[in-house]
Amino acid sequence: MISYKEKIADILVPNIEGLGRDEILAIIESPADSKMGDYAFPCFKLAKIFKKAPPMIAKTLGEAIGDDPVFEKVESVNAYVNMFISKAEFAQEVVKEVVAKGDDFGRSNMGGGKKVIVEYSSPNIAKPFHIGHIRSTVIGNSIYKIYDFLGYDTVRINHLGDYGTQFGKMICAYRRWGNKEDVIKEPIKSLLSYYTKFHVEVEKDPSLEDEARAIFTKLEHGEKEEVELWQWFRDESLKEFSRVYDMLGITFDSYNGESFYSDRMPRFVKELKDSGLMVEDEGAHIVRLDDYNLPPALITKSDGSTLYITRDIAAAVYRKETYDFYKNLYIVASQQNLHFQQWIQVVELLGYDWARDCVHIPFGLVSMEEGTMSTREGRVIFLEDVLNRAVEQTKQIIREKNVNTENIDETAKAVGIGAVVFNELSNYRIKDYVFSWDKVLNFEGETGPYVQYTHARACSIMRKAGEEVVQAAREGFDSSYITSGSAHELSKLIYQMPDTIVEAGEKYEPSIVTRHLVDIAQAFNKFYHDEYILVDNEDEKRAKVALVIAARAAIKNGLSLLGMKAPEKM
Ligand code: ARG
Repeated sequence: MISYKEKIADILVPNIEGLGRDEILAIIESPADSKMGDYAFPCFKLAKIFKKAPPMIAKTLGEAIGDDPVFEKVESVNAYVNMFISKAEFAQEVVKEVVAKGDDFGRSNMGGGKKVIVEYSSPNIAKPFHIGHIRSTVIGNSIYKIYDFLGYDTVRINHLGDYGTQFGKMICAYRRWGNKEDVIKEPIKSLLSYYTKFHVEVEKDPSLEDEARAIFTKLEHGEKEEVELWQWFRDESLKEFSRVYDMLGITFDSYNGESFYSDRMPRFVKELKDSGLMVEDEGAHIVRLDDYNLPPALITKSDGSTLYITRDIAAAVYRKETYDFYKNLYIVASQQNLHFQQWIQVVELLGYDWARDCVHIPFGLVSMEEGTMSTREGRVIFLEDVLNRAVEQTKQIIREKNVNTENIDETAKAVGIGAVVFNELSNYRIKDYVFSWDKVLNFEGETGPYVQYTHARACSIMRKAGEEVVQAAREGFDSSYITSGSAHELSKLIYQMPDTIVEAGEKYEPSIVTRHLVDIAQAFNKFYHDEYILVDNEDEKRAKVALVIAARAAIKNGLSLLGMKAPEKM
């Protein structure tokens, strides 16, 4: 599609000496208020170059642009040149292309097949998969989808928390108080209850601590019985996690978690020792990071066992050697900022220059309206329960609305789960937010159901128009019928969609796509209310249906980048 900004820059370059094309491009704005034009060029920065007052410059530049047929009107207002695109040509250009591209609209190959690792979700085995995990899981999935859409070769990794001394405790607790049937029935709830009991009992009998440590050592040394139990806990937990992943439509290319690196660590411990970076400190081994204003990184404990940091270092090197990544992204809570700063710094000190391609993408906290969670006290809100409740409530709403209910179960699933996902991706990821049921399932607000509903409305218009009209619209249309204010606003937002996706990828910020989708949905609904679409005049109908087809494609592709379905009927 032609880039209007570039077109404007091309016209301006010969008229502005002393500013490069990129600098000019950076100055061009898209005013929020369309009364100021589709594009505006503020001239403040040019006063020095032209040695004239900005309004005078605006006038001169406005005249230079004025001749170009791309614009129907060019005005200079104070220090601004305001440019109004020729609406019919614009609509023709945009709508035709989007209609032709369909599901591929917005896709690009800017990534050129470069390898990007997206690590996300990464829950801990035998621990609840709770509402807090929604963040990494859903944000990560969307970042993966965006990179994939932009032509990168992506690898999705679930770095399971499946290693550590707590497994000694868990096995110890299971042997003492556990029951096989219960674990099979409700793996995480059962394992968690044994683990909690361990913490209560160890207060009374501290020798349990030694027992657990001895079990962990056996596990580390690969003793059959311990490994089998651990493997079983892992498998059962993963089954439970998978139920949630299935509901969300999420899959991974690798579940190599922390345990995968257990025998890959000695190499780094040795490298660190040989390089002199690692020093002994009260029996433990650390890397001092004072020069970087960071606390020391703990590499091995005094009993020789490795730590979370050590496993992340080993994982990063393994990924570089296995995938030769261009970028290695970690979608992990901001509470772990320090952890990531530390280990990435250690990797850099080891002389691996790709350390800077490891990017921690942090996010804030989610809390529930009904109060805080506490794993220890058993106050946990399981993500699975939240998703199920969203589906149930949506079913209720659909029944009350008495709408087309052919496929009520499937629709309720797409809309209910979509609502939770959309809500999750609505704010800047770094912001903390409070999960509120009223907000999530509102069909009128800036929500998932609202956007999906708009998509279904577009589909319904296409059905009503009929196959023949839709086909004719795909083949061509007279764009002079889609130049009204609301039609133009809608085309403009559709046109901006691909740039929005690129920006969301560069900033690792799916909320940019989410917000843009809300804008498109609102513009679509305004167009729908302002105008009759299925009019008698065949030419007019065809052009308007073409715009509906384009809007529908933009919304559908956007939803898919968020990891959401786009039902055709709601
Ligand atoms: N399992 C960890 C947790 O639940 C998150 C893992 C993050 N990824 C990593 N490479 N450290 O807190």
